[in-house]
Amino acid sequence: MRGLVDWFHREGADLPWRRTRDRYRVLVAEAQLQATPVGRVLPYYERFISLWPTAADMARADLGEVLAEWQGLGYPRRARNLHAAAGVVAVSGWPDRLTDLPGVGAYTAAAIRCFADGEDVLPVDTNAARVVARRFPGGWPGAPGLGWEAGQAIMDLGRLWCTARAPRCEQGCPMREGCPAADAGTVAELTPVRRPQGRYEGSMRQRRGRLLRELADCGWVERDRDPEAAESLVADGLARARDDRLVRVGGGV
Ligand code: ADE
Repeated sequence: MRGLVDWFHREGADLPWRRTRDRYRVLVAEAQLQATPVGRVLPYYERFISLWPTAADMARADLGEVLAEWQGLGYPRRARNLHAAAGVVAVSGWPDRLTDLPGVGAYTAAAIRCFADGEDVLPVDTNAARVVARRFPGGWPGAPGLGWEAGQAIMDLGRLWCTARAPRCEQGCPMREGCPAADAGTVAELTPVRRPQGRYEGSMRQRRGRLLRELADCGWVERDRDPEAAESLVADGLARARDDRLVRVGGGV
């Protein structure tokens, strides 16, 4: 574990959400990083933090504004949940059980505890699960006193070295030594399969995305354009129906 942490100190990526221990900022980053690669998240994270540096700032914003800034990241329910979570935190503070917050599941709760609070808890997303399955088949051993560093290191390892399709075991993987999967040649087998994402082209996701983009740009769109997608956005609280139009949601606290 020491080797992993030393490697992270030398070569770990310098990412903006690693320069904070603020729970809200970690929550913003994790909400954006779910299902979106680091490189695409960077400008969004910076923009969100400059617009809304604290949970109270985000809670005061309209959900419509937050959704407009989310435009292009995809899966806008994440933005709705983030805004709702900021509202709860602004009014009542952080709950004892972080999973009581909208959109915060076991992974995000662990990420907040690890990356903001510095607890020795590994947030296990798809990447971390793969690294652990390969390198620590007996389960994650923990990293007492080094939870933050170990957690971040596992993120980098999974993203850059211990990847799903082209693991770089023999090209300098910092955890190659003592890796049971690399030694046994079972790295490829130990790749939990991901549920394949359905096609985006022609999907409801794409249709909803089109309407949301127009809402972000113009503030309204005819519901007739795509009644089914419009209805599904309203049902999800991502837009409002007003007469024949779909309009942005409001609702800051
Ligand atoms: N993906 C999710 N959380 C991350 C983090 N803290 N650093 C890099 N990638 C991540």
